[in-house]
Amino acid sequence: MDTMIASKKNTVEQADFLPLQGTDYVEFYVGNAKQAAHFYKTAFGFQSLAYAGPETGIKDKVSYAIRQQKLTFVLTTPLKKDNAIAEHINRHGDGVKFLALRVDDARDAWHQTTKRGGENFMKPEVLTDKHGEVIMSGIKTYGDTVHLFIERKNYSGAFMPGYTEWKTEYNPSSTGLKYVDHCVGNVGWNQMNKWVKFYEDVMGFRNILSFDDEDISTEYSALMSKVMSNGNGYVKFPINEPAEGKKKSQVEEYLDFYNGEGVQHVALATDNIVETVGTLKNRGVEFLKVPSSYYEDLIDRVGKIDEDLEPLKELGILVDRDEEGYLLQIFTKPVEDRPTLFFEIIQRKGAKSFGKGNFKALFEAIEREQGLRGNL
Ligand code: FE2
Repeated sequence: MDTMIASKKNTVEQADFLPLQGTDYVEFYVGNAKQAAHFYKTAFGFQSLAYAGPETGIKDKVSYAIRQQKLTFVLTTPLKKDNAIAEHINRHGDGVKFLALRVDDARDAWHQTTKRGGENFMKPEVLTDKHGEVIMSGIKTYGDTVHLFIERKNYSGAFMPGYTEWKTEYNPSSTGLKYVDHCVGNVGWNQMNKWVKFYEDVMGFRNILSFDDEDISTEYSALMSKVMSNGNGYVKFPINEPAEGKKKSQVEEYLDFYNGEGVQHVALATDNIVETVGTLKNRGVEFLKVPSSYYEDLIDRVGKIDEDLEPLKELGILVDRDEEGYLLQIFTKPVEDRPTLFFEIIQRKGAKSFGKGNFKALFEAIEREQGLRGNL
């Protein structure tokens, strides 16, 4: 009997106090949201979804929501100079402000996280229009980045109250991107474990993988990384910090140009990476390139794969294997002028890891770019 009670207690303690249904949207603060929306539609294959601005009663900013399958981006730009969004852009350049997470109960998500030490960004707020209600709340994470909790089970509109459906005649076709696989944060020197603890204590995440500077170092520079995952594995946040090397870490270059901690890359999932990357490339997306020697012994390293080697080599797609399967991945160059945010395109074929076998080749590619910028 005692044992049963004890095990019951354990189960209760282990229950997920912050059940997440996945990423609801990623919101970027940018200098020119109209042009950014056009870029993501044209180059990445997003569709127009919703618009908010003066015409919908929002006076100080304009937002464009765009969507591709389960992937929703919001591009926001300020209309006034004395404005928190304008300050954010002045300091960081274009970047990710909100990693919005879908929850069943946004009030509870806020209470659970703030009572565990999460810093309030936005108390639960009910937004309503004729399509129903969205409840939103939020807490701060690293840098000026914020996690919003979005409850939309009683909402049937295009995106959320304050927005109107955005229909356009310009609708470039999809590139096959499906959902956010993971979002990586760059934090300052010796700050990684602080943020690991934040995700454990405040949000109930677990550390599922760790990479030290031995794993992630080239001849010149190094970084360390820990991957945090929520209970059901739908939301994964790797956290990077710079490490000492002969030259400047790529994380440090990011911190210098972003003026602090922030989102380094968002990984977007596809079911056919060869097709997706081929299309993205044709539409002008620029990718990092590894030397062709990477492919010489690829099959010896990763074993048999379903894909032909030639298109992978031509596009520069990387492959890595873990105990559960393999994955294919590729990284874009930064998508703004500062060397800060970039995207990863990833196709998982069983593998749940993050491409550790590619780190060296990849970081050498990043360093070549860093060197060209004079920041190595
Ligand atoms: Fe990644």
